[in-house]
Amino acid sequence: MNNVTTTAPRATRAVPGAKGHATVEQALLSRRSVRAFLPTPVPRRDVEHLLELAARSASNSNCQPWQVHVVTGAAKSRLTAALLAAHDSEGRVSTREYNYQPEPDGWVEPFHARRRAFGEGLYGRTLGIEATDSAARVGHHRRNYDFFGAPVGIILTVSRHTLDGALVDAGLFLQALMLAARGAGLDTCPQAAFIDFYPVLRERLDIPDDQLIVCGLALGYADPEHRLSKHSTTREAVASFATFYGDAP
Ligand SMILES: Cc1cc2nc3c(=O)[nH]c(=O)nc-3n(C[C@H](O)[C@H](O)[C@H](O)COP(=O)(O)O)c2cc1C
Repeated sequence: MNNVTTTAPRATRAVPGAKGHATVEQALLSRRSVRAFLPTPVPRRDVEHLLELAARSASNSNCQPWQVHVVTGAAKSRLTAALLAAHDSEGRVSTREYNYQPEPDGWVEPFHARRRAFGEGLYGRTLGIEATDSAARVGHHRRNYDFFGAPVGIILTVSRHTLDGALVDAGLFLQALMLAARGAGLDTCPQAAFIDFYPVLRERLDIPDDQLIVCGLALGYADPEHRLSKHSTTREAVASFATFYGDAP
């Protein structure tokens, strides 16, 4: 491993397969959660470069509390098999280490309605799965544990010593990584599904107890022909979440 500490970003370089460097705006507008990937491999040096870019993220007093665990090839297949075995026998662990989202009956408006709209779009319109067809829903959900077929799987953890601030820093790192991927023509899907099986991740990836498992991330080239690639999401207007003070024009 290269342990050299970087003090400034390296000059941007082309990643094979990239169609040119995206501007920040293009990266933001084209990023979406991709749930169907091509098997095209992503070389380790390219993953390292994306991580180097993501590590430029701001953090509390430059603590950089993040760690990543990257799985590919046979290691990824073994992890997927262990996660699916746990999924199919237990459903999920009874007590999560941390809750990324409330239990189904714990949602309040307007988030409940937005979540329902998301589910109707993904499961209903995109996949054609009826709301009552729980077997088909579970079938799709299981694909999380194969990182949706992406060649690279990443598990993001943070030090527990600086929580809750570390979770903010982890979010910044995650977003930076997803945007850096876009700049290289790659796609991602952040995945909280992994926290449902944190004991499996801890054991298989040797993650120490002082690291909190935040989420996973699928990384690879999107399969543009797959019907899941037709799924898209909307956003609320700025006026619904921004309040302006002062008299600037
Ligand atoms: C931290 C985090 C965890 C997520 N976990 C999952 C997941 O487990 N499975 C999944 O399919 N999508 C997951 N998503 C993707 C969200 O559903 C997605 O970001 C949201 O619907 C907006 O769509 P977009 O990312 O395509 O813009 C997650 C997103 C975030 C930020």
